[in-house]
Amino acid sequence: MPKIIAIDGPAGAGKSTVARQVAQRLGWHFLDSGALYRALSLAALEHGLQPTDGHHVAALGAQLDLRQGPDGRTYLGARDVSSAIRTEAVTAFASRASAQPEVRAALLGLQRAAARDADLVCEGRDMGSVVFPDAALKIFLDAQPQVRAGRRTLELAGQGGSVDAKAVQQDMEQRDHADSSRAVAPLQCAADQQPLDTTGMTVDEVVNRILELFAERLREGVARR
Ligand code: DC
Repeated sequence: MPKIIAIDGPAGAGKSTVARQVAQRLGWHFLDSGALYRALSLAALEHGLQPTDGHHVAALGAQLDLRQGPDGRTYLGARDVSSAIRTEAVTAFASRASAQPEVRAALLGLQRAAARDADLVCEGRDMGSVVFPDAALKIFLDAQPQVRAGRRTLELAGQGGSVDAKAVQQDMEQRDHADSSRAVAPLQCAADQQPLDTTGMTVDEVVNRILELFAERLREGVARR
C-alpha cells in the first residue's frame, strides 16, 4: 500500500514549497492538487465557460488529459501550462469553480490515481479530509494572514510585473473566506489533522518538523498507508 502525507491549508501557508521538499527528501512523488484545479480552470476559460457552470466545467475536465509530470510541472495534453495557470484570471476562476461539487468530483479520480502505485506527498485544501482520508500523516499548514499575504506578494513579484501588496492581502482574505465557507469540502483543520503554524519558521524548519512527525507516526505504528 503506498504511503501518503497529506498537507492542507490556506494560500501562502507554504504548502507547495514544503510539500515538494518533503517529497524530495523522502524520494516520493508529489501532487499539487491546486495546479489541477488551475489547469482545468485555464482550459475552461479558454472554452469561454463560467466558473459557476460546474456541469460544463466538470464535463470538460473529464475530456482533458490533465497531468503532473515527475518533474512537478503541469500539463494539459502535451502543453506545459505551469506558468499559464498562475495568472490572476485563472486564480479567480479556480477559486469559484472549486466550490462546485461537480468540479471537485471530476478531479477526485485523477488525484487518487497519483497514489495508485507510488508513495505520495500531496497538498491542497481537502487532501486529508476527502481525497486521502487514510493518509499516514495529515498536516494543516497555516501562518498569520499578513505573513501569507507577504509570501504571495513575493511570489507574484518574482513572476514580474508590479504587485500591490494591500490588494494581494484583500484578495487572499476573500479567497480564504470563500474556501472555508463553501458547502463542499470547506477548508478547515479537522480533528485528525496536525496543525502547524509556519509563522516565523524557515522552509527547512517546516520540512524537518513534518519529517519528524512522520517518523513519530511510523514509530507509533499507525502508518497504515
Ligand atoms: O493552492 P492553489 O492556490 O493553487 O489552489 C487553486 C484554487 O483551487 C484555490 O482557490 C483553492 C482550490 N483548491 C481546492 O479547492 N482544493 C484543493 N485540493 C486544491 C485547491
